Amino acid sequence: MMSQATIISKNQSSANLPTLMPGGNYIKPAKDSAKSTCLIFAPPAEKVGVLAQYLGIFEKHGVNLLHIESRPSTKILSNYEFMVECAPSGNIGGAIEDVKKISDYLNVISRDYKDNKDSVPWFPRRIRDLDRFANQILSYGAELDSDHPGFTDPEYRKRRKYFADIAYNYRHGEKLPHVDYTEEEIETWGKVFRQLSNLYPTHACKEHNHVFPLLIENCGYREDNIPQLEDISNFLKDCTGFSLRPVAGLLSSRDFLAGLAFRVFHSTQYIRHPSKPFYTPEPDVCHELLGHVPLFADPEFARFSQEIGLASLGAPDDFIEKLATCFWFTVEYGVCQENGAVKAYGAGLLSSYGELQYALSDKPEIRPFDPPKTALQKYPITEYQPLYYLAESFEDAKERMIKFSSTIPRTFGVRYNAYTQSIDVLDSKPQIQSLVNNIASEISILMDSLKKM
Ligand SMILES: [Fe+2]
Repeated sequence: MMSQATIISKNQSSANLPTLMPGGNYIKPAKDSAKSTCLIFAPPAEKVGVLAQYLGIFEKHGVNLLHIESRPSTKILSNYEFMVECAPSGNIGGAIEDVKKISDYLNVISRDYKDNKDSVPWFPRRIRDLDRFANQILSYGAELDSDHPGFTDPEYRKRRKYFADIAYNYRHGEKLPHVDYTEEEIETWGKVFRQLSNLYPTHACKEHNHVFPLLIENCGYREDNIPQLEDISNFLKDCTGFSLRPVAGLLSSRDFLAGLAFRVFHSTQYIRHPSKPFYTPEPDVCHELLGHVPLFADPEFARFSQEIGLASLGAPDDFIEKLATCFWFTVEYGVCQENGAVKAYGAGLLSSYGELQYALSDKPEIRPFDPPKTALQKYPITEYQPLYYLAESFEDAKERMIKFSSTIPRTFGVRYNAYTQSIDVLDSKPQIQSLVNNIASEISILMDSLKKM
C-alpha cells in the first residue's frame, strides 16, 4: 500500500490547468503562483505612508505582487505587520534586501527556498491556505499507472476523474461533496468491510474498537453503505477537532504532513477497482475510512498526529523525510502494546486483512518506537513490512515525537491557535509572554475547579 506520505516532492512544470494526455489522463502540474515567495514584515512603528514606500521598492525591482494584507503584529505590540506574496518575477533578492533595511523584522517563506538563503520552506499559516495544495499535487488523481488494476477500464478512469475534480475544486469551509456510489462500488466496499470487521475485535487496538461502533451508529458505516466524508468529518470535529478534506492527487510529504498541524486529514474518496477488492496500490476510501478515521477520533492519537504535522512546518527537506518515515511506522503501520499483547493501530494494517494477521503473528520483527532511530529505517511500499515499531502508548509516542521535533533546526517555535485556526510562529518575547499569561489564567481556573470537588 502506497501512502501520501511516502511521496517526495518532484520538480513541477508551470502549466496552469490539468492537461489532457493521450488515453484520457489528466496531469496537473503546479501553478506559477505555487512558487511564490511570502514576505512578512513590520514597518518601523508610527510611520505614515509607509505602504507606498514598500510598494515603490517592489516596483523598482520589477516584482509583481499577488496578494497583500496587514494585521496587528504579534511580535511587537502596538505595531502591525504586512504579508506580501510576490510572484516569481523581477529581482526578489534585491527587493528583500531593501525591505529588510526599513523594517523592524522580516521573515521570508518560500516554495523556492533552496535558492533563497535565509528563507524558510513555505508552510500554510492559516487553515484556508490548505486550498493551495490543490495546485501542488504531484500527479492529477485521474491518472493511473499502467500496472493499476483499473488502467484498461475506461469506466473506472472516468469515475476517477469525477472524484479528482471534486477534490480539485473543493475550498475550505465548503460542505464535503456528497457522492452517490454505484452498486458495484458499494459491493466492493461491502466485501472489504465484512472481512475486516470480523478481525477487528481480536486484532485492532482498543481505541479503534471503542470508536468503530460509534461510526456505525453515527456515520452510516455498514456493509451496504459507503459512508460520506461530510458525516465523518462532522463526527471527528465533535470528537477531536479533526476534519477531512478531499484530495485530488498525491501531495508531497511536506504538504500532507502540514495538513495534520491543523488537524486536517487529506482523504481520498474513490474506491479501488472491483476486479481486485482485496488489493489497492494506493490509498482509497476503504483505507481512509476503516483504517485512519477511527483513530483520529481518539484524543491522544489526534494529539500525536498533530505533533508530527507541527514538527514538519518549515523544517528542512531531510527532516521532512524523517517525519514521513515516522508517520509511516506509526499512523500507517504502527502496532501498540495492550495488556501484554500486540495490537494494530496503523491504517495500512487495519485496512488489509492479510497484513493485519501477518503483523500480529510471530513472523515480522518488532522494535520499540524510537523516533531518532525509526526515522532512518528504510521500508518497502509494495509488500508486507518486515519490521514494525511498537508504541507503548499514544501518549508515550507523542512525548517522544515532541523530543525528536526539538532537534529540528528551526529558528522559531510553532503552535496551533485553535481560535484563529492558524499557526502561531513563536520567535519573539511578547508572544511567548502572552502565551504564558494565558496558560497561567487557565491553570488558575483548573485549580479553582479542583478545590470545588
Ligand atoms: Fe494512509
